[in-house]
Amino acid sequence: MSRNRPPRVPPSEITPPDVHAARRRFLQGAGAALGALAAAPVLADAQPTGMPLTFRRNAAFSTTEPANSWQDITTYNNFYEFGTDKSSPSRLADWLRPRPWSVTVSGAAEVTGTFTLEDVLKPHALEERIYRLRCVEAWSMVIPWVGFPLGDLLKRFRPTAAAKFVEFRTLFDPKQMPGQRLPVLDWPYVEGLRMDEAMHPLTIVAVGLYGRVLPNQNGAPLRLVVPWKYGFKSIKSIVRIHFAEKRPRTSWERAAPDEYGFFANVNPEVDHPRWSQARERRIGAGLFESRRPTLPFNGYAEQVASLYRGMDLRRFF
Ligand code: MTE
Repeated sequence: MSRNRPPRVPPSEITPPDVHAARRRFLQGAGAALGALAAAPVLADAQPTGMPLTFRRNAAFSTTEPANSWQDITTYNNFYEFGTDKSSPSRLADWLRPRPWSVTVSGAAEVTGTFTLEDVLKPHALEERIYRLRCVEAWSMVIPWVGFPLGDLLKRFRPTAAAKFVEFRTLFDPKQMPGQRLPVLDWPYVEGLRMDEAMHPLTIVAVGLYGRVLPNQNGAPLRLVVPWKYGFKSIKSIVRIHFAEKRPRTSWERAAPDEYGFFANVNPEVDHPRWSQARERRIGAGLFESRRPTLPFNGYAEQVASLYRGMDLRRFF
């Protein structure tokens, strides 16, 4: 045993000084890069843009679930007027000019005519409501909308007793909406609500998102949000409101009546003919997070189930 003898290192294990220096530089660089990774996410989400709006928060009508990011809400869209894939609306929506804009009101009401966007919006105080949006394609998001109750707008036109339904139409202009050059749907996009659904306090006209003016891809300058129904009822970029005696035929009903009913209430027990509606994927959730159960009326049953008392929701899907 010789305690004082230096350990013997075979020559093959001695690193030449230049290689040693290079290795140190590499390790230092890697350390710095890892530090930067920890300090700032590499794929930073885009921050909200657009004109800020003045509004009050409506906590009573808001979910406490965490909202999706601005990035998710403004780049993963369904707006077939700008193409059928989720990313095309955010890429093409610059084509739309949401101002000047006008809305034509017709049908069974005392006040009808064409109104400027400013006339339509002016009397309404804006509020923020954080709603779940459940798309018929079995994904969902949580969205902080800014808007006001649709019922407050409709009352201004003094609908008559003959008005049983309200029909809404999106702008038809293939120059601004290139997706309308293809016969994907029977344009313009048409949606409708029964009068009591339209007047329900949960139904809103949205003009903003995350406190800012609504981005075009989300339906500027004004769209519906009906949170207990599948997302396709929440029609975007509205130019016409018609008070009707008969139930309107909506675009999706005309395209596939067996798949997209007029009522379209979120219902985990009534499957779409091609997929289950029992669960949903929350956009932006972790890769390994499982699909969450879909709630009847998208979680708004307490407020709206009474609207459908006595109706067979399998038949009127
Ligand atoms: N409105 C019009 N005019 N055109 C559309 O293609 N898509 C609907 C609805 N409103 C659509 C529309 C569907 S299927 C959904 S899920 C929601 O808009 C999506 O709204 P978002 O992109 O703001 O999340």
